[in-house]
Amino acid sequence: MAGTTVVANENGPYLVPGSATYIDADGKEQKTTGTMFALCRCGHSSNKPFCDGAHKKAAFTAPKIELTVTAE
Ligand code: FES
Repeated sequence: MAGTTVVANENGPYLVPGSATYIDADGKEQKTTGTMFALCRCGHSSNKPFCDGAHKKAAFTAPKIELTVTAE
């Protein structure tokens, strides 16, 4: 079974290919746009779980990691 590769960018977010639907803080269903979305892994985003670029100001450091996710 083919997997989805999620890239944990060096010093940055998890980059997830594709799109996702989610329920926002107001209980409304939302959908990401574009061909990829970025999830925060530094803890400083004001738009969690999404990255808003705050990792740069926070000087977050972490290595690049590629994860292959498969559904079973
Ligand atoms: S990884 Fe970008 S704001 Fe946290």
